[in-house]
Amino acid sequence: MIKRDVIVIGAGAAGLFCAAQAGARGRSVEVLDHAKKVGRKILMSGGGRCNFTNMYAGPENFLSQNPHFCKSALSRYTQWDFIGLVAEYGIAYHEKTLGQLFCDDSAKEIVDLLLNECNKADVTITTRCDILSVEKTESGYSLTTSNGEYECESLVIATGGLSMPKLGATPFGYKIAQQFGLNVLPTRAALVPFTLHDKDKDTLAELSGIAVDVYASCNDTTFKEAMLFTHRGLSGPAMLQISSYWEAGDCLSINMLPNDDATALLQTARTETPDALLATCLNKVFPKRMVQSLIEYHSWRNVPVKQLTHGECDAIADTLENWQIKPNGTEGYRTAEVTIGGVDTNDLSSKTMMAKNVEGLYFIGEVVDVTGWLGGFNFQWAWSSGWAAGQVV
Ligand code: FDA
Repeated sequence: MIKRDVIVIGAGAAGLFCAAQAGARGRSVEVLDHAKKVGRKILMSGGGRCNFTNMYAGPENFLSQNPHFCKSALSRYTQWDFIGLVAEYGIAYHEKTLGQLFCDDSAKEIVDLLLNECNKADVTITTRCDILSVEKTESGYSLTTSNGEYECESLVIATGGLSMPKLGATPFGYKIAQQFGLNVLPTRAALVPFTLHDKDKDTLAELSGIAVDVYASCNDTTFKEAMLFTHRGLSGPAMLQISSYWEAGDCLSINMLPNDDATALLQTARTETPDALLATCLNKVFPKRMVQSLIEYHSWRNVPVKQLTHGECDAIADTLENWQIKPNGTEGYRTAEVTIGGVDTNDLSSKTMMAKNVEGLYFIGEVVDVTGWLGGFNFQWAWSSGWAAGQVV
């Protein structure tokens, strides 16, 4: 029987950070993970450079059934706190765009930071450890694992969401929540590329590899970022962002000319170059390869612009600025960066992350129904929620 003050299940971003905080307070802490390696998502993140936070992170960058829940943790351990820690370690970083901070060199530096913080705080980390059962005892919890029996006062669940099962994701956290009577909100893949119906896919697949800046809108939310055509469907930051707001059956509205006025563009062409083909006019604002496919896909007449009727011009302008496309679905958890939904925040304290009705049981990170936008927000939630629990476990 191994006795610890605190056991954290899940050696990802939230779990390791929480463990280091608790250890630094003098608590005896062990982190258990079923994977061979710790922090696998961190290593994969940001194309291997880890977008570890966002300079502009605030509650408005998160989705949750209770949008107020994240405020306390985010305001008590902010992006500037984590940036300060990164700087203390001498990790070089840069802003890529929109406040997104990435390591100059490697995501491994963030994992090393977390491991070093755990090491300083005497945290034990045990990998390849399967958790077979968890029971409540009078003084805390008992765990049966492939590494033997454990007892602890505080149990922190930091097992993340369902995205990327090949990186070790499991529904473990949701099952524990249900076992102890917490509500688990329905989950779905988010920050994920869209797949298209065959009809759309066949034409648009020809555009594979082309990226254009767009406004992408769905359910009253709009992002201005790049959209990437792929051989499977639509991807790129704009699509990943809007996927978090999309539900099966919804249409996306895409403005493919976020920096221009489509009506003015066509009117100018009709006045200044009336004999130019529609394609020639569109070539000024879109990659050539894209123009031909757009014309075919939308069945526009590729004639001298002076021959287009006002009605046709209006329809083309409207389509360019308000293209309605109904995705077939998303690529799902296989490629999603995060999971929306999860442990209901109504059942947790926003100050400590402890279950309101289960003394000593905590949930942090992505397993909780708090989901950030693309751009470093999800790691910030892992740090902030991990920190909040780390002060009290
Ligand atoms: P996380 O998933 O990190 O860790 C959970 C841990 O629990 C894992 O180590 C897992 O092995 C373990 N575990 C699961 N089930 C278990 C079980 N049954 N028993 C024992 N252990 C178990 N975010 C961001 O802000 N910036 C970015 O650049 C990126 N990039 C990115 C790229 C890719 C490819 C993905 C998939 C995701 C991102 N994200 C991101 C999202 C970010 O990685 C994610 O939100 C955090 O890692 C969540 O941290 P957690 O600690 O909650 O879970």
